[in-house]
Order: sequence, then C-alpha cells, then structure tokens
Amino acid sequence: MLHDNLSINEAGHLTLGGVDTVKMAEKYGTPLYLLDEDRVRENCRTYLTAMKEYFGGGSGPLLASKALSFKGIYRIAKEEGMRTDLVSLGEMFTAHAAGFPLDRAYFHGNNKTDRDIETAMEYGVGTFAVDNREELYAIEEIAARRGIRQNILLRLSPGIDPHTQEKISTGKVDSKFGTAIETGQAEELTKEALSLPHVSLLGFHCHVGSQIFEETPFTDAADIMLAFMACMRDKYGFTASVLNLGGGFGVRYTESDPVIDYRANIRLVAEHVKARCAEYDFPMPEVLMEPGRSIVADAGVTLYTVGSVKTITGYKSYVSVDGGMPDNPRYALYASRYTVELASNMHAPRDFVATVAGRCCESGDLIGEDMTMARPSRGDILAVLVTGAYNFSMASNYNRIPRAPLVLLSEGTDRIGVAGESYEDLYRLDV
Ligand code: LLP
Repeated sequence: MLHDNLSINEAGHLTLGGVDTVKMAEKYGTPLYLLDEDRVRENCRTYLTAMKEYFGGGSGPLLASKALSFKGIYRIAKEEGMRTDLVSLGEMFTAHAAGFPLDRAYFHGNNKTDRDIETAMEYGVGTFAVDNREELYAIEEIAARRGIRQNILLRLSPGIDPHTQEKISTGKVDSKFGTAIETGQAEELTKEALSLPHVSLLGFHCHVGSQIFEETPFTDAADIMLAFMACMRDKYGFTASVLNLGGGFGVRYTESDPVIDYRANIRLVAEHVKARCAEYDFPMPEVLMEPGRSIVADAGVTLYTVGSVKTITGYKSYVSVDGGMPDNPRYALYASRYTVELASNMHAPRDFVATVAGRCCESGDLIGEDMTMARPSRGDILAVLVTGAYNFSMASNYNRIPRAPLVLLSEGTDRIGVAGESYEDLYRLDV
C-alpha cells in the first residue's frame, strides 16, 4: 500500500490505522473524512526529534495548521510539544479554544488587518511573521499603543523556484508573499525594523513552496537567507537568532510519487546550514520549519459511496460519488493526483480506469481523471487516500452541500473530531 498505516483486513476491506474503513462509512455515513491520529503524532515526532537532533538548540517544527485546522489538531500539536503557524484569526481562535498556548504560535499572512494585529496581541500570539513595510509600521503602532514590544520575524522572498506547481510556489521574487532580498527591499525593511522601539526583530522567515521532494530548494533558500543574515550582521551589527525555513516537504499521493525520508532530508538541510554558519562565522540560529502537508496528509482518507458507474461507449467511464469538490477541491484547483481504492472489496482486480466525479453541478467537479481502480458498483465504498492535508481545510459548501464530518482514529478506536454539518447549519446565518 501507499503508506504503512493502510492495510487490508480479513473481510477484504481497506483499513486505516487498523480500523475498518467500511465500518466507519456504515457508522458515520459518507462522505467522511478519516484521520489517523496516531500517524499525525508519529509525523510530529519525526520532525521534533530530527530537528532537535540535527539542528540542536531550540530548533523545531511549527505545525502549518492551514493544512488542517480544527480543535483536535491543536490539542494533538500541544500534547506533542509542537509550535504552530497561524494565518488568520479563525485559526487563532480555534487554537485558543482548544487550549493551545498562543505564545507558541507564529502569525503569518500577507495582509494582516489592524484588527488581526490587535486581536493577536490581545491573545498573546508569540511571534508575528511580518510580510511587508506597511504591516511592520502597523504592528509598531499597535504595540506602542498597547505598551508592549512584539517579537517579529521578517518574511523575505529568497527568489527560489522550487519547481513545484506554480500556484503552490511562494518564494519567487515576484511572489505576493514577503519582501524581496534581490531588490534591496529586505535590507531596507530590516533597517527599519531595527529602528522601531516596539518590535523586537528575532530573525527571518522564508517559504519556497509546497510538495517538494528533495532538500535542495531548502538548502538553496538557506544559502540566500544566511548570506543575507551575515550581511545584516556585518553592516548593522544585527545577529539574527532565528531562521525559519518554512514548510513544503512533499507527500506521496500516488505510486509515481517518490518515497521521502523526512529525517534524512532534515539532516541534509541541517548539515548544510551548519556548514554555512561556520563559513560566515555566524552563530547557529534557532531553525524553524513549518510542515503542514507532511504532518497530516498521509493520516487522512476520504470515503465516498458510489452512485453510478457510467461508460460513454467509445469514450470514457465516470464513477460518480456522493462528495467531490466541496470536500476536495484540489483536482479542480491544481490537477492534483490521488489514489483511489475500492474500500469494500480490496481483493477485486484493479483493472478499471475511470474519472471519479463529484455531485456538484459543475463539469470540473472531479476527484481525478484516468484513475485506476477495481470496478465499483452503486453502493460500494470508494476511498481516496492521503487526503489529510488541504481537503477539510479547503472544503466549501458549493451547491449548498453540508461539510462532511471528520472522524479521528486512534489505537483502533474512533471518535468524532468535527461533526458533519446539517442542512439547518447551511442556512443558520441567512436572514
Ligand atoms: N509555511 C508557510 C508560510 C506557508 O505558506 C505554507 C503553505 C506552509 C508553511 C505549509 O506548507 P506545506 O508543508 O503544507 O507544504 N492549498 C495548497 C497548498 C498551499 C500551501 C500554502 N502555504 C494545496 O492544497 O496543495
């Protein structure tokens, strides 16, 4: 199987974390998000131990909770000793409601409103990643008014093209995120930040992109960031103590994606950073990374019930399921590829190729095209694998379809993490 938390039981059903997925579909209905909590914890520990071991000091991962945000994930993150990255007040309030200590949170986003800044300070968010000049001054002004000194990082764009999908590549010079090093604007911003009395500049942040399978985009980014940091020290006497390299390690969605060893990659990045620091005679900073996808993706499976199998003679076949772009918009947005399994009959031959379509009134509402699977029939349970990241968190109510519930699996038990929406929920706020 694609990941080792997936298996087949005696009934010939797909299991996730040892739990029979078909039983879950019977118990909770479909569409249904399943999340293997034990796998999430394991992934957190991989980053926590590898980063501590290879980077040392206070280095460690922040959970990029945009990949999956609900109270349960912040509880898990808290229990595992993770820090978190937040990009909105919605994520912040969810983390707070779950008891996540917000001093361990980093507030991102390329357009923080005054209200965002004000509220995040009120709730004691530890560090702001400042995107741009206007934001820096807004933070200074609000911190001054509140009589505090706010810890900040400056988000810089290192000008790296990670050769991933264009829409999820974020570190290029012309990206909407951060302030460019190449143009000299990052240096200006640093000078300004150092001159302001109500912000405390700890260091710098960058994020080059997502779904990256090797260490080089990270080591390239580290080179540029460390050269910049050494330059800021030499010119302005400012020795940054934090280097945040962002998230982005890839995940295996299909057999054709490589297997990635996060620990080994973290070691390579750490060795590289250490060597550069030695070269510049720069004290090793606290290095942060912000994995989202690689913490939660392989913990997730989405279950659907098949409604029809339609073959357009001489053309193609469609398998229609009871979910689609409202619960997983990633094919519609990025043409992302997934693996499907006939969860209710895993021993059936995988000899059928079809487009898996959702039930929205939209021809682009597809889970994937040319997907290989065992031929299903109406009523069968179809599983889409590796859906833990950016599925639930990007879900919508298009066509007034209620959001699917999310069920957490741990040590063979199941419990609701997020209840499914009712039809009443859909019009609850309508006047
Ligand atoms: N840190 C920052 C500043 C980010 O912008 C992101 C992702 C991450 C961390 C986490 O990256 P990850 O480890 O998950 O690759 N919706 C898209 C992904 C957009 C990612 C945006 N930023 C998708 O479904 O593929």
